[in-house]
Amino acid sequence: QHCFTKSPDGFLYCEDTKVQDVMEKVEKRPFYLYSKPQITRNVEAYKEALEGLKNSIIGYAIKANNNFKILQHLRMLGCGAVLVSGNELKLALRAGFDPTKCIFNGNGKILEDLVLAAQEGVFVNVDSEFDLENIVVAARIAGRKVNVLLRINPDVDPQVHPYVATGNKNSKFGIRNEKLQWFLDAVKAHPNELKLVGAHCHLGSTITKVDIFRDAAVLMVNYIDEIRAQGFEVDYLNIGGGLGIDYYHSGAVLPTPRDLIDTVRELVHSRNLNLIIEPGRSLIANTCCFVNRVTGVKTNGTKNFIVIDGSMAELIRPSLYDAYQHIELVSPAPPAAEVSTFDVVGPVCESADFLGKERELPTPAKGTGLVVHDAGAYCMSMASTYNLKMRPPEYWVEEDGSVTKIRHGETFEDHMRFFEGL
Ligand code: LLP
Repeated sequence: QHCFTKSPDGFLYCEDTKVQDVMEKVEKRPFYLYSKPQITRNVEAYKEALEGLKNSIIGYAIKANNNFKILQHLRMLGCGAVLVSGNELKLALRAGFDPTKCIFNGNGKILEDLVLAAQEGVFVNVDSEFDLENIVVAARIAGRKVNVLLRINPDVDPQVHPYVATGNKNSKFGIRNEKLQWFLDAVKAHPNELKLVGAHCHLGSTITKVDIFRDAAVLMVNYIDEIRAQGFEVDYLNIGGGLGIDYYHSGAVLPTPRDLIDTVRELVHSRNLNLIIEPGRSLIANTCCFVNRVTGVKTNGTKNFIVIDGSMAELIRPSLYDAYQHIELVSPAPPAAEVSTFDVVGPVCESADFLGKERELPTPAKGTGLVVHDAGAYCMSMASTYNLKMRPPEYWVEEDGSVTKIRHGETFEDHMRFFEGL
């Protein structure tokens, strides 16, 4: 069951709520619209997939979407959190996440943030030699031993856009696997500061073949065998995030959370490990649409354009990664509307400002609603205020069909506040 559906008469619904009605009632500007029940269903799919695996942790990657209400909901459903900055850590703690289900990741963690992580008792991933030194210092300042995992770069090709590939040799993330012994010796040298509890890898994002996870897991359990052979009691295998979703709405059968977990289940059992996974996109992307209005339609040279009020400022994935996100109108086109090929563009002063290229759509009237699908992950969290297009408001449809604002839209006055008292 998916939250966004087209009715036979051509209107888009979020659960049982007509998107057009939400547009008319709540906002005159672009906004993000989520389905709260879909968030729940996505978490349940992971939980069901993990049944039978003891002490596993679903570490939701907060970078994908850091809306506070959404975080509280995910925490309530039992998720942990994966963090890449001190502010993400603070936010997770405010949202009530259990620190023992939180993992602090990153190739450039700063001392101040590591001290907070140490004080709170979250897992910390070791990314480099200097990172290990900083974690040792943080442990001393906090007066607490830190549970660490080694982020190993298994050198597996995730077969994705180079900007979202991370687990290959030339990536800036993780330790080179041939340096493993140096890190084991360094941990041994700091028994009062570090406790090695596991190994971590993250291959990349938008991965659509589970074999890639399996190949990496095979390598990772070999590293764990090596680590255990030296007397370390490591219990955790963290295989990161990265499961892709069906952005194309093509009906293609993509791997599910269950397919992902099933592909590593036996390996995890065979070594009696606790599994940590770090999904971001696959938990949140498909729960949301970015809702826009058509400002007008124009033709230049040989190109037709639908100009909308939203832009690359609110949703940058198409501009940044050439990412495809499905686009459709929220209401039926008038019978006479001609279907053409359009680039869907925003008002920002950049030729890179497009939400979709070469889309077949009926020519929409001014004011028609147009949505960009699968906008729950890496859209609002990557939004900027370029051209002073302020960050949009967010709403969700609740279980009972009511629509609630879950984040205020930023305003011009919010912007002027940065200059008060200067
Ligand atoms: N764990 C680590 C260590 C990560 O670096 C990431 C994402 C995740 C987990 C979550 O991965 P996911 O399940 O969401 O694929 N902005 C890009 C994606 C960047 C992903 C960064 N790391 C995009 O919009 O496609």
